[in-house]
Amino acid sequence: MNTHLTQEQKMVVQMIRSFTEKEVAPHASVMDHAGEFPEVLVKQLGKMGLMGAFIPPEYGGSGMDLLTYILTMEEISKVWASLGVIMTVNNSLVCDPIFRFGTEDQKKRFLVPLAKGDTLGCYALTEPAAGSDAGAIATRARADGDTYLLNGTKRFITNGKHANVAIVYAVTDSSRGKQGISAFIVETASPGFIIGKLEEKLGLCGSDTAELIFEDCRVPKENLLGEENEGFKIALATLDGGRIGIAAQAVGIAQGCLEAAIAYARERRQFGKPIAAFQSVQWMLADMKTEIDAARLLTHRAAWTRQKGEAVTKMAAQAKLYASEMANRVAYKGIQIFGGYGYIKEFPVERFFRDARITTLYEGTSEIQRMVIARHLLQS
Ligand code: CAA
Repeated sequence: MNTHLTQEQKMVVQMIRSFTEKEVAPHASVMDHAGEFPEVLVKQLGKMGLMGAFIPPEYGGSGMDLLTYILTMEEISKVWASLGVIMTVNNSLVCDPIFRFGTEDQKKRFLVPLAKGDTLGCYALTEPAAGSDAGAIATRARADGDTYLLNGTKRFITNGKHANVAIVYAVTDSSRGKQGISAFIVETASPGFIIGKLEEKLGLCGSDTAELIFEDCRVPKENLLGEENEGFKIALATLDGGRIGIAAQAVGIAQGCLEAAIAYARERRQFGKPIAAFQSVQWMLADMKTEIDAARLLTHRAAWTRQKGEAVTKMAAQAKLYASEMANRVAYKGIQIFGGYGYIKEFPVERFFRDARITTLYEGTSEIQRMVIARHLLQS
């Protein structure tokens, strides 16, 4: 596996691995159980060029190809998925749409600091009554002179509490349904931008998930991202890239489980021998490895295809669907191999199991991925 990677890509993986072993692994479990946002680690990711990994250097990024970025996402998530999601949201859901759809001025003002890791971004699409049916959002943006006034509530926003910049989707023409949605770059320090309830979650406890409330939040017209009423397409095109990132996160979580399970199976002795000597455990490990490699290949294919500039909606949905469901199966087996020890917080598989769960939900549930894949199969 990974024979298709270049020497440079393998070197990047090695570099990230030594960073995660030294800087992330010693803190991940403690910080996660304390629900602590990893501010220092996020800054370190910025210094390493990972907060704008595939953004060209002239806009503050590292200019990596997408596959290399995906490899870094897997490595980070293998150790701490909370750090992985903070990173993927900034890269795929914030830097990427500003790079693709932003004006030169927006790129200079917002993208450069985001890609350098000097500021942090969030992606505000979901609302209390619009999750899977994202086209049904109710947040309104009313033109008022040289500005728009935003009113409404967003829910489940990753990085919402810590972000400096939010990409906010709001209705500019209510007579046109989802064709009347626009995207805005909103500075979170703007008056009328309010951080509401912070969610307490099953997993990803080091990453914050916030409600955002907009009360006459004034946004300059030059902060409109793309054309007016083109926002829903921007949101969905952005999610094509985001879903590949989540697939990589799921692969990372599963790989972390597998490595922990192999080490434990070699060391734990029962009935006079290491449990790795039992076929029941060997078969679980073999299935885990095979499924991880299959998911990794789907993920790499999607990243490689998007890098070429080709349509990737279906491939991204396939990678996300398979990798996220796989991560849950693998995490289940990981705990099974650890037995009772897998259920307690002292060992990492308990955290992997909880973190795997979200990957079938955010950036589109498994059911939404199946809908996207089926629509592509059935369209003539
Ligand atoms: N790229 C660009 N345009 C696209 C597109 C894509 N991938 N997919 C569809 N479009 C276009 C369509 O062609 C259509 O264009 P026209 O108006 O010109 O016809 C328009 O977008 C609307 O498309 P649909 O009619 O297919 O839209 P829909 O209402 O049926 O919804 C959906 C499609 C796939 C179900 C979509 O609503 C969806 O993906 N829902 C899930 C939402 C989601 O993933 N939310 C994630 C929240 S963010 C998050 O989770 C971040 C985090 O915390 C980590």
